[in-house]
Formats: sequence, C-alpha cells, structure tokens
Amino acid sequence: MSSFQVLTTVKELRSYLEEARSAGSSIGLVPTMGFLHEGHASLINASTDQRDVTIVSIYVNPLQFSPDEDFSDYPRDISSDLKLCDKHGTDVVFAPSEEEIKTFFPTTPIHLREVTKTFEGESRPTHFQGVATVVMALFEIVGESHAYFGEKDFQQLTVVKQLVEDHELPIKIVGCATVREEDGLAKSSRNVYLSADERSQSSVLYQALKVGAEAVSRGETSTQIIESLIRETIETSPLAKIDYVGVVDSSSFEIPNKIVTEVRLLVACNFGQARLIDNLPAKKKVGSDH
Ligand code: PAF
Repeated sequence: MSSFQVLTTVKELRSYLEEARSAGSSIGLVPTMGFLHEGHASLINASTDQRDVTIVSIYVNPLQFSPDEDFSDYPRDISSDLKLCDKHGTDVVFAPSEEEIKTFFPTTPIHLREVTKTFEGESRPTHFQGVATVVMALFEIVGESHAYFGEKDFQQLTVVKQLVEDHELPIKIVGCATVREEDGLAKSSRNVYLSADERSQSSVLYQALKVGAEAVSRGETSTQIIESLIRETIETSPLAKIDYVGVVDSSSFEIPNKIVTEVRLLVACNFGQARLIDNLPAKKKVGSDH
C-alpha cells in the first residue's frame, strides 16, 4: 500500500479501503478526538502489529460534550497528531469535517442500555448518546474491521462492545491497557488543564485505586468498604474533588452486592478545571477468603 496519507472525505476513505480489501488487507481503526499522546500511540501500535492497514480517525465530536463542558477549549494540535500517527506506522488519518461525518449519523435513535445511565452516564447524561452516534457513523463508514479503544475509558469500552453486539456489526472491539505517567497518572488529553500543584496531586487517583485493588486481593468482599478506602485515599489530596467512586462487575458493569472474584474499580475527580477519570481491575487472590 502507499505511504501515510490524510483523507477528509468518506468517498476517498472508502475507495482506499476497497483497494486495501481487494489486496487482502485486514483493517484496524483507531477512533480518536486528536491531541494524541502515548495512550493513543499504544492503540496505533496494537493495530499496526495486528492488522495490515491502520486508519486513525480524528474528530472532536461536539455531541459528546454538554453545553457547560469543554468542547471549545478541548486541546487540538493537528500537526503534532499527524507526526505521531506517521511515526507509529498509521496508513491513513481520516479527519472529516462535521458536514462530512454528519451524513453518516444513524437516522433512528440508538437505544442505549442501563450501562450508560450510571457513573459517567449519570454525571454526563448526554455523553454516551453522543459517543454512540459518532462511533456508529465511523463503523458504518469503515465497515468490517478491528477497532481499538483504550481501557482508560472503561465504561465507553463497555458501551461500544454492547453497541457492536446489539447491532451485530462486523467490528471486533479490542481494548488496550491504560498508559500511565511514571507516577501513575493515566495519560489523557485533558491532563494539559492541570496546574503544577494539581498535576503533582493527581497521582493520588492511581494510588487510591491501588489501595482498593490491594484490599480486594486480600479478600475484602464489601463494595462499601472498598469505596471508602478509595475515597479516604483521594481525600488526602486537598485539590481533589471527587465526582464518583465505584465498584462494578468488569463485563456487565453492574454493581455487585458482594465482590466474588473480579471487579473494576472506577474513579472520577475534578482537579481545578480538569475532570479526570481512571479505573483498575481488582481480583481476589486465591485462598484469600474471609
Ligand atoms: O475516546 C474518545 O476519544 C472518543 O470518545 C471517541 C471514541 C473517539 C468518540 O468520539
């Protein structure tokens, strides 16, 4: 295939994909909102390792921001994004205009399941409808492919997997591990909003998740106790304002009465202007029953 290119229309992308498929190439899709960092690079690397052709989409989707959120301030840097994509072996950056992608938005409302109503869905009631609309459009445009999503947005990953299952789409969702700074802070485009003090305190989120995960590993089965441990740790940071702390089943996203084997621990927290989310798997160690 030809080298790195940037396409802005669906027509161009589809004709590229048609050629790639007729040459027998498998397709990897990495949907992003740009301002790419090492977390995105790890998704691109997974796709280039596993698939013949990698498409990175860049589109800051207004529908997933509520009117009081940071859509207009959301960081953008297309020239650095293109460099990162090229460096990591991307074949095509698909950067559509709003007009271009809008025509592919589903015309009937997407029915979202219960998983979209809790945690992120409760704090940001229109968020997942917006994510689902644009992700469905990208899947419709790209067609049969593997799509790579970060585990940092664990609830989004769950929602996207359910969308694919419910609509029987020819897409395989691949979840990729969260990439962290040295002190544990999850890489995120929104980390640029942090002041120096907020940045140094923000690693408390990862520390708190680890405290929770260690307690689960030792055999603690009470979700309330795990939540309190996480909260108490975060509260040692004066700049952290907790939005939610949660313990959910890793696949159904339901809140268990008691932790049986494995759960996902979730946090969302504001540090000044930055709203940060993170999560960690937590598993009971064999033989740790209370
Ligand atoms: O995770 C993101 O960056 C966005 O939510 C996504 C999946 C690209 C949809 O706009």
